[in-house]
Amino acid sequence: MTGIEQYKSYRDLPSLAGLCGMPQAIKSDWSLDESVTRLKRIHYVLRRIHETLLARIPGEPIYELKTLYSHHAYLCAEQVTSIRRRVSEMREPPLGLDKVPDSGLESTLNEISRCPETVQFLAGVYSVVLPECRAACERLRADAHPVADAPTVRMSKLMTYELTEICQTGGQCIDCLLSDEHKQMVCEWSQHLHANLKASGSIDGTTPHQDCPPEAWYPDEKKSYQHEPERDERFRDPYNAGVNPEAFLYNEQYAAADKTLMIYYKRLRELDVPEVMATILTDLGDAEPWEFHMEMSRQLWDEARHAMMGEVGFAAQNIDWTEIPINFTWSKNLNTQLTPRERHGVLFFIEQSLMPKSGKRYEWEVAAHSGDPLAKLFQDFDWADEVLHAQIGRRWYVPRYKSLKEAMAYGDKCWSQVLSNWQQYKDAGLTEHRNWWPDLYSKSCKQRGIAPDPHTLAFNETYEQQRADLETL
Ligand SMILES: [Fe+2]
Ligand SMILES: [Fe+2]
Repeated sequence: MTGIEQYKSYRDLPSLAGLCGMPQAIKSDWSLDESVTRLKRIHYVLRRIHETLLARIPGEPIYELKTLYSHHAYLCAEQVTSIRRRVSEMREPPLGLDKVPDSGLESTLNEISRCPETVQFLAGVYSVVLPECRAACERLRADAHPVADAPTVRMSKLMTYELTEICQTGGQCIDCLLSDEHKQMVCEWSQHLHANLKASGSIDGTTPHQDCPPEAWYPDEKKSYQHEPERDERFRDPYNAGVNPEAFLYNEQYAAADKTLMIYYKRLRELDVPEVMATILTDLGDAEPWEFHMEMSRQLWDEARHAMMGEVGFAAQNIDWTEIPINFTWSKNLNTQLTPRERHGVLFFIEQSLMPKSGKRYEWEVAAHSGDPLAKLFQDFDWADEVLHAQIGRRWYVPRYKSLKEAMAYGDKCWSQVLSNWQQYKDAGLTEHRNWWPDLYSKSCKQRGIAPDPHTLAFNETYEQQRADLETL
């Protein structure tokens, strides 16, 4: 053995802090330029997937997909943020992160954002683009210099790991939803997207660029996006505002154990927050910097988790949540009646009002006294999340106004502007505003093996004259 093969570390300890062996470390076929170029291309694709997933949240009726998009949009946002930070460590500003690195990548991502059909969309994201992203991250991990570019190697390792999970879950969704009649079309669609990516030299630009990309399937369509929220068929009677859970929750006469039902209802109903936040983010777009989109995407995902905590809470009590009317008129009315800045004002106003003693602390106290350890656990974290959201609001919303007071007043004003349409929905035959509380309460009592308390059973307050902060309409 001669040369580098003879190189020895002290007592054969792992050399170079465990990064690699000396033969790999002396290779010089990597450059900072190459690292930045590949990262920027992956950054562009993940940013577009983030924005595309968000835009589909309101119009996607299926609850499991709404929450999945919320989750994966957030994960993409985290990856985008790490890449931006890494690029900023290697380059002086302007970093050029808002430029389109390759028009071929742009047209591929446009195709996906314009694709009209759910399974087709899922296939584009989870069986073509994100697996290709994962492969690009693996190549980056293998090709980047393990010592000189160690931060990039670490990041691509973590991204590969996370993208593997994302693609697995997305793949399961495709398996569940893909019908035989759509198989051929989805297969051709995937081939079409693969051909597009191949023509642009792969996501990371490591294969030869081709001059004539395939013809677009959706050259003229707009991206698939709507303000009007949709819900799947399990959301029965979604216009029903016949029960005011806050009125029950803040009434001293009722027992904590019964109030947790209203808390779980309120959590599950929070599915409307991702629907509103998705339109704020989509409509504001480039009017706000990336950091705004990052933090708001985290908050959007938290709200989807809060909805899932409600789902879990009911499941733990063996209560079928689909029998309870989960109201969606808050997101419907905000998304169709207000501008994105006004929607943000209402969101901030509500979140900020959750902070005083009467809000999240109170819900936590109720949960802690209810004897339901799951409710206590969930409210512990729900409270922590809301503290974060109030901070996000103070960073990104309040500075647009002269003072906190003015910022709050604007949100309050925007909220009072929203027509709840309580009577109109009833007149149009969309709901009877049935009081669903006695049913839910009776079921819960049966599960717990106790007799319903007549006074609690008789609770009958609606949203007709009051909004959720108990202000009179
Ligand atoms: Fe929440
Ligand atoms: Fe929140």
